[in-house]
Amino acid sequence: MTDKWSRLKSYRQSQGDCRITDLFARDEDRADGFCTSADGLAFDWSKTLIDAGARDLLIELAEGADVAGRRDAMFTGQKINETEGRAVLHTALRNLSGSVQVDGQDVMPEVRRIHDLMADFARDVRSGAFTGQGGKITDVVNIGIGGSDLGPFMAVLAMAPYHDGPRTHFVSNVDGADIADTLKGLDPATTLVIVASKTFTTIETMTNARTARDWMAKVVSEPAAQFAALSSATDKTAEFGIDASRVFGFEDWVGGRYSVWGPIGLSLMLAIGPERFDEFLAGGAAMDSHFREAPFAENLPVLLALVGIWHHQICGFPTRAVLPYDNRLIRLPAYLQQLEMESNGKGVAMDGASLEVPSGPVVWGEPGTNGQHAFYQLIHQGTMPVPCEFILAANGHEDELAHHHILLAANCLAQSEALMRGRTLDEALALMAAKGLEGAELDRQARHRVFPGNRPSTTLLIGQLTPFTLGQIVALYEHRVFVEGVILGINSFDQWGVELGKELALKVEPLLKGEDAPGHDPSTEHLAELFREMRG
Ligand code: F6P
Repeated sequence: MTDKWSRLKSYRQSQGDCRITDLFARDEDRADGFCTSADGLAFDWSKTLIDAGARDLLIELAEGADVAGRRDAMFTGQKINETEGRAVLHTALRNLSGSVQVDGQDVMPEVRRIHDLMADFARDVRSGAFTGQGGKITDVVNIGIGGSDLGPFMAVLAMAPYHDGPRTHFVSNVDGADIADTLKGLDPATTLVIVASKTFTTIETMTNARTARDWMAKVVSEPAAQFAALSSATDKTAEFGIDASRVFGFEDWVGGRYSVWGPIGLSLMLAIGPERFDEFLAGGAAMDSHFREAPFAENLPVLLALVGIWHHQICGFPTRAVLPYDNRLIRLPAYLQQLEMESNGKGVAMDGASLEVPSGPVVWGEPGTNGQHAFYQLIHQGTMPVPCEFILAANGHEDELAHHHILLAANCLAQSEALMRGRTLDEALALMAAKGLEGAELDRQARHRVFPGNRPSTTLLIGQLTPFTLGQIVALYEHRVFVEGVILGINSFDQWGVELGKELALKVEPLLKGEDAPGHDPSTEHLAELFREMRG
């Protein structure tokens, strides 16, 4: 193992059985010193075992990996996605001023042109200047999957208080249940269908798009006139019959999971309007400036990444829970699963060598307080610590329900406190003795009420979930994933790992239809046979 990793591992070992609470006892400024604020966001990482020594080693790790150099290479349009020979410029979609060169050409005029076309279209749909056969558009159905679904879906749900456009729906799964349930009750004559697919070949999306077109054709004489496409593949969108005026393209330097800032965000723009959408972009751009300018010790994406590296690669905790205490962020964990696991779930470094430390953790989560009544039992008393990332807004949107919000926030803070402090056997014994238990039964019952504590968590505190702060949060996580990827030495922007399953699905399909399909393993053949029998 190279020095950079072994030094951190040795440091962790040298901490022995030190507890997070000991770090607070040793450093009276810890609560403040390990809580970093920028642009209205506060990131508290004091409830971890990272102390000043670990922090310095982690920052050295980031410096040694040339995070700053790779970051600047990304923002200036260099081809850092080396396995696909592409630049990585989703940041250009949210900073509409300035210029960025790719292959000697300034890409920004085209970015601005498409942004303005989207905004014009969104205004027309929202005002009723663009209509369906039955009049003003009442419903929008976004058909896409992966990055062409998760980002806009997450953001549309998050921005519910700002919705003043048509109702917005999302279809992603090739399971016919998804589109059937979504279209049920919609009026084809006042529905706009958006086909969101960078490649316009993704089998789930194209199957759903054709089904939606057939559904619309039953009522609407020119169904394609109520379709828009978000895609780079203009030949394929034309073949599908979608007029070029409703095709919004983007370049290959926008990765699917980083694409919500541009045309893939059209459903969000339709729901909240172009002005609010621009506030979302501004939040992302503000985080970009912070990431580019703040020293590492005060740099939120860098710190988030270093905490992640500490917990997974150094401490060996296999998963990470994202726990937004904000019901409207219900799809954030799913969005982050793609962002983090598709980006950094890789075993090979950029140079083709195997990684010397584990790749990224399993990311999962659910809004609090619901998770508290489901899986928090394991987080508190299970044998494997789960680092938790709490997210909380100081203000809700429901002024008349302020008491709900205080209760929500109290639960969030109580959870991180309980995770850190735990409850000792002596405390549990006293508790149960006070309830009248004695002897062996007292001991037995008390043991079930012990909480090991010393379980790490971080808390991201924001003022309120607005388009601007949502933009900050999404960009924060994007850059965190980037920094982690640079430290691991991997390419966070390709996704070869999803290809094999896609290829095999095409070969399994004939097997399920009972057609000749050689080359499958005995288990798959057997399952296909059972499947055919059960279908009758
Ligand atoms: O799952 C692989 C993937 O390529 C994702 O990276 C992408 O977000 C998704 O498929 C959808 O791709 P497309 O937008 O081309 O339909």
